[in-house]
Amino acid sequence: MHKRNLLLDFMLLITFLMIMSPSLTGVPWHEWLAIGLTAAIILHLLLHWEWIVRIGATFFRKIFHHSRLKFVVDVLLFVAFTLTMTSGLLISRSVLPTLGIQSTRSPLWRGLHDLTANLTLSLVGLHFALNWEWVVGMFRRYALNPIIRAFQTSKAAAIKENPRSSTPQ
Ligand code: HEM
Repeated sequence: MHKRNLLLDFMLLITFLMIMSPSLTGVPWHEWLAIGLTAAIILHLLLHWEWIVRIGATFFRKIFHHSRLKFVVDVLLFVAFTLTMTSGLLISRSVLPTLGIQSTRSPLWRGLHDLTANLTLSLVGLHFALNWEWVVGMFRRYALNPIIRAFQTSKAAAIKENPRSSTPQ
């Protein structure tokens, strides 16, 4: 469960950073990756649904709530991301034309897309900072510890094969 969450979160971050650089991916990849990211974010929300409902239900009941800041940042992130996606779709140069739908050339929507994308990036940074303990803990458990264990096992096997190699000269 945690391993799957960690993997999904890592993929979300990498994909988001790629989308933030349309000059690197090209516009068609930028747009299709963003559509794919939306599907992955819906999955991410479903996997954390129990937390969302629990904190949401107590939000107005307890004044001092340690998860309150996290919740506010998450709501802002959701709004900024939705605005980025909506403005992106409106100025689309690949997805909408492929579907035979005319997009807009309005600099207003383009400006809003730029602004909300940068806002989303800042909130993603905050979202990670507020969940940093979880990220580090999971990374240690599922990435770092298996490597250390594999290293210790191969070292123990080498010593067993050649015991003299481990005694200091
Ligand atoms: C996670 C969602 C998205 C993020 C973070 C994002 C981010 C960005 C960024 C940072 C730019 C560059 C702005 C600049 O050069 O000043 C951009 C441009 C653009 N985006 Fe998005 N975008 C997202 C979703 C979308 C979607 C869903 C579409 C359309 C289906 C789209 C279409 C475009 C277009 C057409 C441009 C202009 C590219 C150009 O003129 O070179 N974006 N986006």
